[in-house]
Amino acid sequence: MKDRSNFSNKLGFVLAAAGSAVGLGNIWRFPYLAAQYGGGTFLLIYLILAVTFGFTLMIAEISLGRKTGLSAIGAFRSLDKRFNFLGILAVIVPVIIFPYYSVIGGWVVKYLFEYLRGSTSALAEDGYFPGFIADSAQAEIWFLLFGLMVAAVLFGGVKQGVERVAKVMMPLLVVLAVFVACYSVTRPGALEGVKYFLIPNFANFSWMTVVAAMGQMFYSLSIAMGILYTYGSYIKKDVDIEKSTKQVEIFDTAIAMLAGLMIIPAVFAFSGGDPDTLKAGPSLMFITLPKVFASMGFGTGAGILFFLLVLLAALTSAISLAESGVSTFEDQFGLSRRKSALLMGAVIVLFGSASALGFGALDFVSLLGMSILDLFDFLTNSLMMPLAALSTCILVTRVVGLDKISKEIEQSSRFKRKKMYYVFMKYLAPVCIVIILFSSIANVMGWIAM
Ligand code: PFF
Repeated sequence: MKDRSNFSNKLGFVLAAAGSAVGLGNIWRFPYLAAQYGGGTFLLIYLILAVTFGFTLMIAEISLGRKTGLSAIGAFRSLDKRFNFLGILAVIVPVIIFPYYSVIGGWVVKYLFEYLRGSTSALAEDGYFPGFIADSAQAEIWFLLFGLMVAAVLFGGVKQGVERVAKVMMPLLVVLAVFVACYSVTRPGALEGVKYFLIPNFANFSWMTVVAAMGQMFYSLSIAMGILYTYGSYIKKDVDIEKSTKQVEIFDTAIAMLAGLMIIPAVFAFSGGDPDTLKAGPSLMFITLPKVFASMGFGTGAGILFFLLVLLAALTSAISLAESGVSTFEDQFGLSRRKSALLMGAVIVLFGSASALGFGALDFVSLLGMSILDLFDFLTNSLMMPLAALSTCILVTRVVGLDKISKEIEQSSRFKRKKMYYVFMKYLAPVCIVIILFSSIANVMGWIAM
């Protein structure tokens, strides 16, 4: 077994896991899903799922990693060969997510560039964003640029540097987000949006709200993709897993909520709560925030700082995605690091270009009623991750044994939520996942309307 470099201290682990968790998922994905799937209802369901389900699964993955000292594939293989397919899923998921993550990362770089050029009012115009993504050459170039940035960081040996910078800048992101959120929620008309986002209204409930909230929880916490096993394998035996997990979760959720407060009230203040804007999907952040920045003093400076910080957060998450993809290629197919990286690069250019062009040259392609980017997002978040999570529950309860996991955790501290952990892993989680999995399949196939 290779030497596993340990995180130097407890904080090292929390920061690395938070660096992977906090990214576009919090700032770009969470607000548009909350806007689309019922505001406060979505938020409530998300919170419940995160503190129960998300918490249990994170703990399971981290402690399995620490127990076996291996990454996801190695861990499955050493525990039970029948779970090898989980290793395959752990390759496929990051390989599908990374390319479209880079497309959105490219949009962030483009906006940063435009703010630096002082295009603050042009960006706030209604047709700007749709015009930009429909321009295939532009979408492709900015996507490739983001991909190259990740590659440069990974292969240029500056990864640690970037992560260090990002760690210092993250608190700044929080401060800026609080400031912009305060500005947003105090605009005339924004109060309706605050209510929509924070107060559950069960008239807005649909089964899709639960499906979307669960997918978002996996995505945002970087669960069910093999990453947390690897991080777990690096931590020392005296680290309090339960407490660290809680810290990562609180930080991740706080950033998502701040992003919601920056973006959703602004839809009400600047677009009169237009239902079409609320359902804008992946475009929402790019349509709404420029209007906020354009309306405030120092808007250009705020725009530059905001997109710069989001870019850093996106880079640290993208790095963990790329590493997970490359190292699982190595482990699963026995390829060298160079070959794995080349293969990953080729897949990224192919899938990423398809996603980037999906709003322009390839906009006639629609599968199951979704654009290419949405389809990749759906396949991973609503199908593969729940499947991986379900298999993890089965692996933990049937093969490893719940007691072994709690012993692993109790090596360093008392396991306070042990009862909840048992009930969730054994009953609630698997049952919920199966129901949700089937209903999301039934929904896209048009068997049921949700
Ligand atoms: N959790 C990241 C985000 O919310 O942006 C995305 C992500 C990173 C997902 C790393 C998966 C992963 F392995």
